Amino acid sequence: MCCTNNELEGRVALVTGSARGIGRAICETLCDRGTEIIVADVNLEQAQETAGQLRSMFHKEALSIEVDVSKIESVQAMVKKILDKFGKIDILVNNAGITRDGLLMRMKDDDWQKVIDINLTGSFNCTREVVKVMLKQRSGRIVNIASIIGLIGNVGQANYAASKAGIIGLTKSVAKEIASRGITVNAIAPGFIETDMTKVLAPEIREKLLNNIPLGRLGSPQDVANVVAFLVSEAASYITGQVIVVDGGMVM
Ligand code: NAI
Repeated sequence: MCCTNNELEGRVALVTGSARGIGRAICETLCDRGTEIIVADVNLEQAQETAGQLRSMFHKEALSIEVDVSKIESVQAMVKKILDKFGKIDILVNNAGITRDGLLMRMKDDDWQKVIDINLTGSFNCTREVVKVMLKQRSGRIVNIASIIGLIGNVGQANYAASKAGIIGLTKSVAKEIASRGITVNAIAPGFIETDMTKVLAPEIREKLLNNIPLGRLGSPQDVANVVAFLVSEAASYITGQVIVVDGGMVM
């Protein structure tokens, strides 16, 4: 699509929520383009396993770190560990996210708060801490994983939609604030992607979804990872504050 295979050689990339799913695919793709990678996840055991597999696949450094992005102390400790090991952070992908679906009238306070804390505050926490580092470097790339649900809303996902719409606002504001420092900030809004998050969809809902996707299939984690690789490449250096929809044409 965009980048020669080792274009990102020597860059240090931090991907949150990357022990599995879309985050893991992003790690694989960035490693394949030459980056050192940090697999940061609340699930340390799975992060360690993923980092181990990346090391043997790509013969590169792959550091696993336990982090809860919703907790600022945890994020600060993560950034310190990365700086101690690599001395810089070139790429941040805010990918960690959860769903706690329920109709508005039945939505528990905790389900609202948890989703906002992890998806939105988590992205804010990581962005603020990593931008401190990127400002000193006068370079950096940030990619936030939003969702088409943040653009169009969804029944039973008021919390998730609000968190993802919030991420889009965060993306645009931070992009404006730090563009002059050589840092770009963009968001990707995936449609329905085959991961553990969507495994739970009932067959009839899946069927209905497919009828609304012009390209006729759910997306793969790789479909999203390819766009991350583009946005952090040299080819995308004039793109900031944008939301790239990766949904097989569902929303247009
Ligand atoms: P997933 O559930 O497979 O993976 C999410 C990862 O985030 C897990 O490894 C989990 O342990 C980690 N995580 C959860 N809470 C965390 C926390 N507090 N701190 C650090 N890590 C944490 O999900 P998937 O499908 O790979 O989604 C990744 C991102 O893509 C999410 O932000 C999600 O909202 C977004 N997305 C997913 C879509 C899909 O259809 N799967 C569609 C649109 C957006």
